[in-house]
Amino acid sequence: MKKNVTKAVFPVAGLGTRFLPATKSVPKEIMTLVDRPLIQYAIDEAREAGIEEFIFVTSRGKGALEDYFDISPQLEHFLRKKGKHDLLEILESTNMESGKVAYIRQNMPLGLGHAVWCARHLIRDEAFAVILTDDVITAEKPCLLQMIEAFQEVGGNIVAAMEVADEEVSSYGVLDIKDDIGKMVSIGGMVEKPMPNQAPSNLAVIGRYILTPSVLDRLESLAPGASSEIQLTDAISDACKSGEKVFGLRFQGRRYDCGSKQGYLRATLSIALSRAELRDDLEDFIMNSLKKPGRSEGG
Ligand code: G1P
Repeated sequence: MKKNVTKAVFPVAGLGTRFLPATKSVPKEIMTLVDRPLIQYAIDEAREAGIEEFIFVTSRGKGALEDYFDISPQLEHFLRKKGKHDLLEILESTNMESGKVAYIRQNMPLGLGHAVWCARHLIRDEAFAVILTDDVITAEKPCLLQMIEAFQEVGGNIVAAMEVADEEVSSYGVLDIKDDIGKMVSIGGMVEKPMPNQAPSNLAVIGRYILTPSVLDRLESLAPGASSEIQLTDAISDACKSGEKVFGLRFQGRRYDCGSKQGYLRATLSIALSRAELRDDLEDFIMNSLKKPGRSEGG
């Protein structure tokens, strides 16, 4: 099997109910961290890792995502006429080449495993990446690139992994570690959202995967698991149990759970503070707000 990974699946069919009412009319993936939509962070990470084909698994009401990646002739014409070349450049960096982007409908919310399975005909028989846009990861070397490099070394299936606190394991897929060699662990199984006292470890899956096509075959006949949904975790765990190689990679970088309000706010702050044009003003504002709690901003 060829060892480069050029296709990525982005499951973006979720309703985003934790962000209602915002997500009543705006797809969650279009919500911004400072001025870039969540989906753009995921796309940029994928591009930097060498991904060339982008497969979005969408649902009703996600049309704004398709428009976002399309060229916008009217806007481009306007910016060109006004000589706003910097904005034009930003805009053009979001365009996706025709034929390199595909949108597939998940017509029923049957779970992450089902969403990935919906992309099976576009994946066929090569290893592919899955990126969950809720998990924003800032890193010197993009997380997906770290994973693809690991895949080129060891093959198999690879999931991004991070240690979490005992009380948090029930929010994640959790790894049953067979062999821990530091940066990588080899896995004997995985459990989706276990109770803390039943979790096989504290090493949780974060939303980046490199998967072999056999996982798609397993998804085909998989029974619903946790939350009565078809779980990607269960298909990968089955692969482990049938002797396929599965590894967890303790990636370098900082992960923000943008599926929660706290994580989303942290990511917003962190990204704003990393931007030279915003940093000083924001720092002053935060320091002042912390000194005088409750005082509203006048200017
Ligand atoms: C999904 C996966 C879970 C993984 C998590 C990472 O859960 O099912 O295994 O640990 O993403 O963010 P979700 O957060 O969609 O419930």
